[in-house]
Amino acid sequence: MTIRTFTLTDDSTGKSSSLEALHPTVGPDVLNIAPLAKDHGVFTYDPGFMSTAACESKITYIDGDKGILLYRGYPVEQLAAKSTFLEVAYLLIYGELPDTTQLTEWQNNITRHTMINESLLRFFNGFHYDAHPMAQVSAVVASLAGFYHDSLDIYNPRHREIVAHRILAKMPTIAAAAYKHMLGQPFIYPQNSLSYGANLLNMFFAVPSEELQIHPMAAKALDLLLILHADHEQNASTSTVRLAGSTGTNPYAAMSAGVAALWGPSHGGANEAVLQMLEEIGTADAIPKFLARVKDKQDHTKLMGFGHRVYKNFDPRAKIIRETCHAVLKTLGRSDNPLFELALRLEEVALNDEYFVSRKLYPNVDFYSGIIYSAIGIPRSMFTVMFAIARTAGWVAHWQEMIADPAMKIGRPRQLYTGPTSRVYTDIHTR
Ligand code: ACO
Repeated sequence: MTIRTFTLTDDSTGKSSSLEALHPTVGPDVLNIAPLAKDHGVFTYDPGFMSTAACESKITYIDGDKGILLYRGYPVEQLAAKSTFLEVAYLLIYGELPDTTQLTEWQNNITRHTMINESLLRFFNGFHYDAHPMAQVSAVVASLAGFYHDSLDIYNPRHREIVAHRILAKMPTIAAAAYKHMLGQPFIYPQNSLSYGANLLNMFFAVPSEELQIHPMAAKALDLLLILHADHEQNASTSTVRLAGSTGTNPYAAMSAGVAALWGPSHGGANEAVLQMLEEIGTADAIPKFLARVKDKQDHTKLMGFGHRVYKNFDPRAKIIRETCHAVLKTLGRSDNPLFELALRLEEVALNDEYFVSRKLYPNVDFYSGIIYSAIGIPRSMFTVMFAIARTAGWVAHWQEMIADPAMKIGRPRQLYTGPTSRVYTDIHTR
């Protein structure tokens, strides 16, 4: 392969540096700017990491122009059609699809860790009943660090593997405990005979006084959403987990930072915001008025579930979810869902509007996901928690990849300082 270099010359000193472009296995070359600070005493400036790769990774690849998403090389469409969430989590973490024995062992390991310490359950009582579940989940995930710290050596691969088992197994239990706390219902213990998705639904919707029949379509749709949200390379929450984890902190503390970053409406909180937006718009005849507000920069209203930092074409996950919406709503007897009809119309109008066309704004993964979550009975305030359960697979995979990398360094960005230069302290009476 040809070595591609870029010459950078400092016009004031005439000093030149040759910067080498690194070749990924697929995708655009990545310019190695590491020598700049040493050779020229300058840093690079790239707010929001618009064109900066922060790490090397083998986990997920996105081609935003073509709308391609690969987990360890496998197109997300194939995994969505044929795989399960736990198999995809294995793939993300270990790099290969498991054989039958490996999958059985993996599922058993996850199943054996689904319970949480009873003391952790009591943490929920510290929250008011209407505390947002993301606040509860991020706090309780961080608290796991208090239970698994002294015995955990992050440089021991076996210990890292157990972190993966624990966090994947306990996230649904923690999420369900937050939900039951909101409702004031008794906590339902995990059922290890159920699949990952069915167990999650059982912990959410079962009550001790009655048996619950889980609709197979609900469990299937949930598993699909978990697959589609499992990883998305260096997104804000994953980068947060990497940055926190790069200090060598306890991995559960790092995952809790990921939950916090995911909560924002520009990221995972968008699924909740989309449904809120659809409810506010109400009917199709109100769409033009709403879009006029979106286009008015003074209004600060966004078309939630539209646009993406990387995708400048259809988000492949949005396509799959939209198709699934029809099937789920029909099977669960909710085919006349007015919010789904409204979302379809809103999408159609926006995709034919010059504002969205010229900015290459398309529906992202969360434009339709909330409609499926609602159809299977999950309330709006829990949507981002569901996303967090799924993204835990990616967070663990990235954390493990980073810690296992001998070249790992603490993440420590630089800045363009524009504050005052050195000045003399003045006494309070003379200010
Ligand atoms: N509604 C209206 N205008 C938008 C939207 C939107 N949803 N998204 C982007 N734009 C506009 C911006 O205002 C900007 O316009 P300008 O050029 O006139 O200033 C232009 O499109 C470019 O957008 P940026 O904000 O520069 O794009 P960026 O990559 O920084 O942001 C983001 C991406 C945060 C996802 C943005 O599109 C957004 O806020 N979308 C709505 C929230 C959402 O759905 N988030 C979920 C993302 S997917 C996920 O995290 C799972």
